[in-house]
Amino acid sequence: MLIQKAFSVSRSLSTYRYLSSLSSSSIQMHTANLPKSPPFCNFLKSTPFSIYLPSLSFPYSTSSISLAKSTRKPLLPIAALLEIGGVKIAKDDVVKESDPTNNVPDSIFAKLGMQLHRRENHPLGILKKTIHDYFDTNFAGKFEKFDDLCPIVTVKQNFDDVLVPPDHVSRSYNDTYYVNSDTVLRCHTSAHQAELFRNGHTHFLVTGDVYRRDSIDSTHYPVFHQMEGVRVFSPEEWSGSGMDGTAYAATDLKKSLEGLAKHLFGDVEMRWVDTYFPFTNPSYELEIFFQGKWMEVLGCGVTEQAILCATGRTDIVAWAFGLGLERLAMVLFDIPDIRLFWSTDERFTSQFSEGKLGVKFKSFSKFPPCYKDMSFWINDGFTENNLCEIVRGIAGDLVEEVTLIDNFTNKKGMTSHCYRITYRSMERSLTDDEINELQVKVREDVQNKLKVVLR
Ligand code: DAH
Repeated sequence: MLIQKAFSVSRSLSTYRYLSSLSSSSIQMHTANLPKSPPFCNFLKSTPFSIYLPSLSFPYSTSSISLAKSTRKPLLPIAALLEIGGVKIAKDDVVKESDPTNNVPDSIFAKLGMQLHRRENHPLGILKKTIHDYFDTNFAGKFEKFDDLCPIVTVKQNFDDVLVPPDHVSRSYNDTYYVNSDTVLRCHTSAHQAELFRNGHTHFLVTGDVYRRDSIDSTHYPVFHQMEGVRVFSPEEWSGSGMDGTAYAATDLKKSLEGLAKHLFGDVEMRWVDTYFPFTNPSYELEIFFQGKWMEVLGCGVTEQAILCATGRTDIVAWAFGLGLERLAMVLFDIPDIRLFWSTDERFTSQFSEGKLGVKFKSFSKFPPCYKDMSFWINDGFTENNLCEIVRGIAGDLVEEVTLIDNFTNKKGMTSHCYRITYRSMERSLTDDEINELQVKVREDVQNKLKVVLR
């Protein structure tokens, strides 16, 4: 539980620092016996990426199928239902119920290709555009923008290429959606860094939908959006500065991102907090003092040299940052619940328009919540993320929150959890009958799929 919270609260890969102090057995417990997951050590093994998907050089490839020299079933599809970044994706290629190396549910497939960040009148699109404008204005249009890179990436791209350690919790089936043991739904936009370096890009902004298995509350949703920014420097840029490359990049990084924070939030107080990311050193978080409290805006740092090796040059340095668009948009537009970003209700969508950052959202009304508690004896493999996946799969966006309200272990060593599920629609009042029906189904599935004993 502690582990999950540590990861999900900040939703940042920096949380590895919490985990490195935990015993391997607690990490194992966290990931063991998950439905539809292979044994723990299996999915940590490194995979021959270059053999399996040599052509996944998004956004350049139009079709990767013919180039995948593998005897396995190709990842990319035959009957296409979706097309993202020139890659055709069929549901059967992403959701494979009988495959133990796949944990992508239908509800997640339904979000692929939605690309909220590409809608001009959507808060996420408006925010993206405002950040683009900042970089265009201050860096003479040097930053290239990518916002259509396919979210299906290899384990190598998502983790290995950005130096995420083999035992990092974010690699577990509990935290990440695996299409198969070599392929995931990207859990961060950093997954594209190495590929873009390899292809010679030196200034870029990548925006995209990212996917993480997580708990349920008003700020967590299994799909959200990030923007990654990267700038490369060559030795001639810092040689006259009296600084070494790392110090020069760190100074430029701080100046550039302080400018960005001002562009978004106005003349706010800011502070830099040292942190840890696997891909940068030094690493920082930028915080601003906003609406009476310190708030994290983004994570960033000077790129690890090993990642820059992808460029084939050893004499350059780079800075990189990553930010969560929902987190910032919720504050800037006063959006109280992350589910609203997905709403197609006109009363939501009509409130936002291109170029208007920070227009305050007016709630159209708050419908009454309905609470349902359920208690059960957990087993070793139980995780809150697995429970939440089941609840979301059944109730969709009608579930507002899942909270552990009671937790005890009896004399026989059996542990009981009681969860409170809050159901509430953002658009209408729910009837008792419909909630009861959902709750019956939730209880059944929790018992059958998680093998817990209801009390
Ligand atoms: N990928 C990180 C995350 O999802 C965010 C991030 C932090 C990206 C620091 C960066 C960076 O490029 O330098 O938590």
